Amino acid sequence: MSLIETAIKKIQASANAQAQTSLATNNAPAARKAAPKFEPVDPTKIRQFRRVSADAEAMERNCILPQVTDQAALRGYKILRTRIGQRLAANNWRSIAVTGTESGQGKTLTAINLSIALAQDPNTYVFLVDLDLQRPQIASYFGMKVERGLGDYLVGEAELDDIVYNPSIERLAVVPNTRVLEHSSDFLASPRMMELESSLNAESPKRIIIYDMPPLLLSDDVLTFAPRVDGLLMVISEGHTARASLERSKELLAEMNLIGVVLNRSSEHNDSPYY
Ligand SMILES: Nc1ncnc2c1ncn2[C@@H]1O[C@H](COP(=O)(O)OP(=O)(O)OP(=O)(O)O)[C@@H](O)[C@H]1O
Ligand SMILES: [Mg+2]
Repeated sequence: MSLIETAIKKIQASANAQAQTSLATNNAPAARKAAPKFEPVDPTKIRQFRRVSADAEAMERNCILPQVTDQAALRGYKILRTRIGQRLAANNWRSIAVTGTESGQGKTLTAINLSIALAQDPNTYVFLVDLDLQRPQIASYFGMKVERGLGDYLVGEAELDDIVYNPSIERLAVVPNTRVLEHSSDFLASPRMMELESSLNAESPKRIIIYDMPPLLLSDDVLTFAPRVDGLLMVISEGHTARASLERSKELLAEMNLIGVVLNRSSEHNDSPYY
């Protein structure tokens, strides 16, 4: 068993009862429950957000769906989409913060591709929010040129209609950011941020909200915001995530609802032609 597998097992063992049904396990009682059916949506009543062009080349370069052709990666995102979708539906949860122990482990890539994969389901509408206020990346991963984003909203220089974009991916709306904000956790705790959450939650049809966040260990942003989401998705990277970081994260995660762990950059492959 590798160091990472051992560490994941430790995180799972110490997390709360819901966390114990992590993606790495196959015994999730939540997934066995019948998922509630989404109400049918009248397409004429769906709010149209600002249109923005995403750059197919940038998306391909950054491994963003649907420009990904690697079959193993596509399969991985479908499995992640289905398991997360089942868990959210079974618990009537709607919001997830994507984080990890340190930087560069694939949090943003996972948040984006999970959002797109969820929105590929014709019954699922998604908001993807760039909540890494010190290193916003979502706009550049899509190659989107946007005038204003979340930072402008948080400082009171933009309104909701100015910062929610539709990058021509059906059922996906993106709240990007182009303005770096220092004292980010203060902004996350601000009334303006709560106003944004209320507005997104009040949208019809109801949407799953995926927040791309900074690393758990490098600031207090995740600690500040975690109580306001339904669950956390941890991204760890095989060969990059240190055991000490996982141990430290385990202590912090004990207080939070960990709904899954994604093992990114896994070297494991199943080369069978079917699976
Ligand atoms: N599974 C993967 N295969 C190939 N490249 C990957 C993979 N996961 C991430 N990357 C690349 O690694 C880099 C870092 O990924 P990403 O920005 O998603 O990490 P992050 O955890 O959000 O980093 P940060 O903490 O800086 O926000 C990017 O260039 C991304 O394209
Ligand atoms: Mg990131």
